[in-house]
Amino acid sequence: MKFFIDTANLEEINKARLLGILDGVTTNPSLIARESIFNQKEIDNHYISICNLLKNEEDVSAEVISNNYTEMIREGEKLSLLHPKIVVKIPMTENGIKAIKYFYKKKIKTNCTLVFTPGQAILAAKVGAYYVSPFIGRIDDISYNGLNIIKEIKNIYDNYHFKTKILAASIRNPLHIIECSKIGIFAITSPINVIKTLLYHPLTNIGLDKFIKDYNKKF
Ligand code: E4P
Repeated sequence: MKFFIDTANLEEINKARLLGILDGVTTNPSLIARESIFNQKEIDNHYISICNLLKNEEDVSAEVISNNYTEMIREGEKLSLLHPKIVVKIPMTENGIKAIKYFYKKKIKTNCTLVFTPGQAILAAKVGAYYVSPFIGRIDDISYNGLNIIKEIKNIYDNYHFKTKILAASIRNPLHIIECSKIGIFAITSPINVIKTLLYHPLTNIGLDKFIKDYNKKF
């Protein structure tokens, strides 16, 4: 399973790289707005800096801001020219679907974002989205089961051999990651702190303490 990090923060991306687990980066307008960048030129340069940080890692999703078809195409084309690693992130709207189809024909990779239902995921796959991003955590937040939606999407995609890759997003806890791997999801995108929770177990710490104590007693 691929691990993407959901951030626009260069330090966090570097930490994930150094951990050796990073396969790619996803950003969104809220994440971009958290960074110390203040105009379009700086935003463009920031995307380029993120891409340049990556070596063997795959790609960086950069989202369009407009929901107007012509503007989406203009923004997406501009984003895709910033760096070969850029994937254009497009919201699941009527214009978004048309834009994904346009980019598919132009061989520009897209990530269809803000997906909450299997129906939306079917449309994304039909128009040739490279990734589909169902938001598990936000579905859980409104008392539905995000992982069930992911399972249904995986099942539908398998039925029709859709090529669109499932990039499970809005990951909030380690179980989301583990359950996605059991379902056979292509990739998750998560904040680094959630990925790091996979590291810890109290028995690992207790066991390590004992190994070191026993060794030091004798030698
Ligand atoms: C996906 O690409 C989004 O950037 C992200 O995963 C949303 O996560 P959140 O619901 O924790 O904001």
